[in-house]
Amino acid sequence: MSRVVNCSEHGAVAVITIDSPPVNGLGHAVRKGLVKCLSDALDNNMVEAIVVHGADKMFSAGADIKEFGSELAFTPPLLTEVINMIEASGKPVVAAIHGVAAGGGLELALGCHYRLAANNARLGLPEVTLGIIPGAGGTQRLPRLVGVPAALDLIVQGKLNPALEAHNIGLVDELFEGNAADAGIAYANKLIVDAAGPRPTRNQNAHIEAARGKPEIFEEYRLGAQKKARGMHAPLAAIESIENAVNLPFDESIEKEREIFDRCVESDQSKAMRHAFFAERTVSKIPDVPKETPPRKVDSVAVIGCGTMGQGISMAFANASIPVKVLEADQEALDAGLAKIEKTYNSSVEKGRISTEERDHVISMITGTLEYADLADADLVVEAVFEELELKKAIFSKLDQVCNPGAILATNTSTLDINEVAATTSRPGDVIGLHFFSPAHIMRLLEIVRGEKTGADVIATAMALAKMLRKTGVLVGVCEGFVGNRMLLAYLREAYFLLEEGALPQQVDKAIYDFGFPMGPFTMLDMAGLTVGYLIRQHQAGTRATDERYSDIEDRIVEMGRLGQKTGAGWYKYEAGTRKPAADDMIEEMIVETSANLSIKRREISNQEIIERCLYPLINEGAKILEEGIAIRSSDIDVVWLYGYGFPRHHGGPMFWADLIGTDTIHSKMVEFETEHGNLMKPAGLLEELAKQGKGFGDI
Ligand code: CAA
Ligand code: NAI
Repeated sequence: MSRVVNCSEHGAVAVITIDSPPVNGLGHAVRKGLVKCLSDALDNNMVEAIVVHGADKMFSAGADIKEFGSELAFTPPLLTEVINMIEASGKPVVAAIHGVAAGGGLELALGCHYRLAANNARLGLPEVTLGIIPGAGGTQRLPRLVGVPAALDLIVQGKLNPALEAHNIGLVDELFEGNAADAGIAYANKLIVDAAGPRPTRNQNAHIEAARGKPEIFEEYRLGAQKKARGMHAPLAAIESIENAVNLPFDESIEKEREIFDRCVESDQSKAMRHAFFAERTVSKIPDVPKETPPRKVDSVAVIGCGTMGQGISMAFANASIPVKVLEADQEALDAGLAKIEKTYNSSVEKGRISTEERDHVISMITGTLEYADLADADLVVEAVFEELELKKAIFSKLDQVCNPGAILATNTSTLDINEVAATTSRPGDVIGLHFFSPAHIMRLLEIVRGEKTGADVIATAMALAKMLRKTGVLVGVCEGFVGNRMLLAYLREAYFLLEEGALPQQVDKAIYDFGFPMGPFTMLDMAGLTVGYLIRQHQAGTRATDERYSDIEDRIVEMGRLGQKTGAGWYKYEAGTRKPAADDMIEEMIVETSANLSIKRREISNQEIIERCLYPLINEGAKILEEGIAIRSSDIDVVWLYGYGFPRHHGGPMFWADLIGTDTIHSKMVEFETEHGNLMKPAGLLEELAKQGKGFGDI
């Protein structure tokens, strides 16, 4: 009997329990344990049926992803062998699923002869989200049970589906409420009474035959996947494998599935997506804030300022059913802000995203006020007024006077020094930055900015709060722009320089889009509006070295009154009522004229140069951020870029991508750029050091 898999007998039913916390992953020890318990049950004449289930929270989250690429992944018994053994069993085997059955976990259940699921269980094959395909028969057995179109939906989208849906499509035989082992035993006893024997999935061919000779099903799916999962290989590989299931004998097709799986698992895309999976989970681990640190309660919130961010932040809390009081400077601004919130929710109802009841509920969560005294009992206050240090300081000293002891005082500043703001209060330990991204009720990223004196429990509360708001919180330190915007500035700066040197906005945007970003820098700037960047650059003007290269190209666009999509023109022009950017001759003329004024001879710029010029300096800035301890680890920077800026997940994030390319390659290119373009391109010390040692950011 193995520690991670246990077997017990209940009359004529053997119950095999996978007990490998935290998620009953199917690592080598579990696979071995399953074989042992199965063999025992098969050899035992008293046993007439077998139940497989998971201990604790779930059935199984699938293969142990940490094993990928290691020898253990190839050490027998492989998962396919375990599943084949179950399927070939002469005694019926029942999978009793609760919690989650994902990836190899669901494949194990597909190999069982019968499947039961708890009403609140979730089932799916999310392998494509890790850049791989189901590699233990999932692409072969699932279409046999649910039909080809439903299998394509499940595997290509990679979502976990509710048990009820799984039952409706025929993936699950019966739903149950309560304990999985008990439900499994009851079902197995019924099978024994009914003399219902094994029912191997591999022999169920009706659905497969129905799809044979219909290549158009797959063609349509391929086109959809190319659009929705732009640049990703795994969805196409999964479609290929399901098509094989339809056209080839089972044994031949499952062998091909393994080949495709191996090809995917070794690809850079899969390495990047697996990195992203673990990066998202590592981000909440803070060395000096142990996970046992008790968070403070956040049952009520106040937001100061009901402008763009104040509205979004209020909605983020309301959506999590946390009551919000929003304070404005005057009645007019308050009414306007609240009306805008209502309009946003009404539009969500019109688009069918929420029901009218849900709208009424979230709107009822938000109330307005003009009185600081009304904020006294808030557990958390988030300030989101104009970006002016003196104004924020004045607000924080007022909050210090009115708020209950223990209340967390947060600012949404994007550029100001949180330590200065905290110093105006008698409780700097309670002050923290909560840097939401616009639109705050939608964007997943929350930069949590730790001041010099911020308390550990305040940080723990902010991290927990991010989860409550369904956001990904990343802890960062104080510096101008924090992690995301500081790196963004380096990227944008080079995009502007490229225009001066010979590129056009649409060319830069296309190169970045083709790399995998949802949009290029100029489309993004137009969408976000050009004013904020303009104000920041004006603010920085005094601190810029006189010999530092600076492009005023965007300032000139702003000064023309072209503030982006909201004014119908920015870097691009927009037909009334559309958001589709169209190249504008006027902008091209302005760019060409700028080059002439700077005596720059415009040249042909390749897409490769655009990628290197925009992304290598961004990575270089990331290296400085790590050097200065502003981010805890390079994977946290990746999470910021994956969630805040749409960095393509199949490249893993900028720092992971840098490691794939090699820090030595990036470093030598930065040296070349420094010679050609000046000291803004100077390689970071850390980058130089890693390049010298032949190491990557992930090795730190
Ligand atoms: N392998 C290794 N570790 C895993 C894992 C897996 N399949 N799934 C989760 N973990 C780890 C997490 O990294 C985390 O570790 P730490 O506590 O050290 O950070 C821990 O288990 C708990 O995970 P979550 O925080 O994600 O827990 P949750 O309760 O929020 O979510 C879950 C549970 C929905 C199952 C989620 O963990 C998940 O989606 N897991 C991955 C599922 C998946 O993609 N499976 C396919 C694997 S590939 C495969 O199976 C290939 C094949 O064909 C054989
Ligand atoms: P905004 O100009 O849209 O809104 C500011 C609001 O604050 C206005 O409604 C104003 O009436 C109100 N206000 C001003 N003084 C006040 C006072 N004394 N008391 C109460 N309310 C007052 O500005 P926006 O864009 O919402 O920015 C707010 C903050 O969020 C700034 O610190 C900004 O740097 C930060 N931020 C902005 C992002 C963006 O994309 N707009 C993104 C992340 C942070």
